[in-house]
Amino acid sequence: MQLLDGVKVSEEILKEIQSEVAARVQNNKKVPHLAAILVGEDPASQTYVASKVKTCDFLGFKSTLSRLAPDTTEAELLALIETYNADSDIDGILVQLPLPKHISEDKVINTIHPEKDVDGFHPNSIGKMVLGQDTFIPATPNGIMMMLQHYGIDTVGKHCVVIGRSNIVGTPMSLLMSRNTNPGNCTVTLTHSKTKNLKELCLEADIIVAAIGRPKYVTADMVKEGAIIVDVGINRIEDATKKSGFRLVGDVDFDTVKEKASYITPVPGGVGKMTICALMQNTLKACKD
Ligand code: GUN
Repeated sequence: MQLLDGVKVSEEILKEIQSEVAARVQNNKKVPHLAAILVGEDPASQTYVASKVKTCDFLGFKSTLSRLAPDTTEAELLALIETYNADSDIDGILVQLPLPKHISEDKVINTIHPEKDVDGFHPNSIGKMVLGQDTFIPATPNGIMMMLQHYGIDTVGKHCVVIGRSNIVGTPMSLLMSRNTNPGNCTVTLTHSKTKNLKELCLEADIIVAAIGRPKYVTADMVKEGAIIVDVGINRIEDATKKSGFRLVGDVDFDTVKEKASYITPVPGGVGKMTICALMQNTLKACKD
């Protein structure tokens, strides 16, 4: 079994981005500027946004963080996005999801200018991705593709089972893996909560991408010997031995599944790191275009 080490791979890619930013500074070119918006106080979202801002600092990007109260109205949020759309110094806009129930995620996503849509969630970006046109690809699936590419994993002709059909991960992941690219060129099965024979499908998978948000859901009896396992889950489970009172586990039961896998991503230190890396790449691209 080989670990797909998101810490190591993301460090290498971030260093490349850092050098590109340094070269831009040398040449008196604009540095990328990411505006992140966090509504409410969800602890996990706070952590994710904080690490995005920290990574901007590390790279030499500018960042603006707007922390909005949980009772911020939809109109207020949309107005802030419009301000950022009109601000020529801001290259990328990120609104951390999920949003409080009284705010429409669709409206928010549709309001971000497609040229600043570094999350790749706008219908323009998704449509272009489906057509194989140049655009911003959502960070988590793109980070996974970067990871597979980095390890030289040949995916051509393989059967990839994606578990979970979210707009952010499962749906774009299934598309990317089915495209005529490498990584890619897989036969893809997109599964979800209504899938009846999930275990049988998983047992036929050469690659499993688990993105269902249920701790340790994929167990060893669901995995074929030699399968490649990509774990997107970041679930908090209670752990009295930790100072925080919790620890992070993935959607895969790592300790047992690793015995069967040829490659597997750890949690933490796997896909999460790659997601940030892919977001930063998109922000650099937004600044260049
Ligand atoms: N929530 C979970 N993943 C993401 C992401 O990639 N981008 C944003 N904006 N919110 C998220």
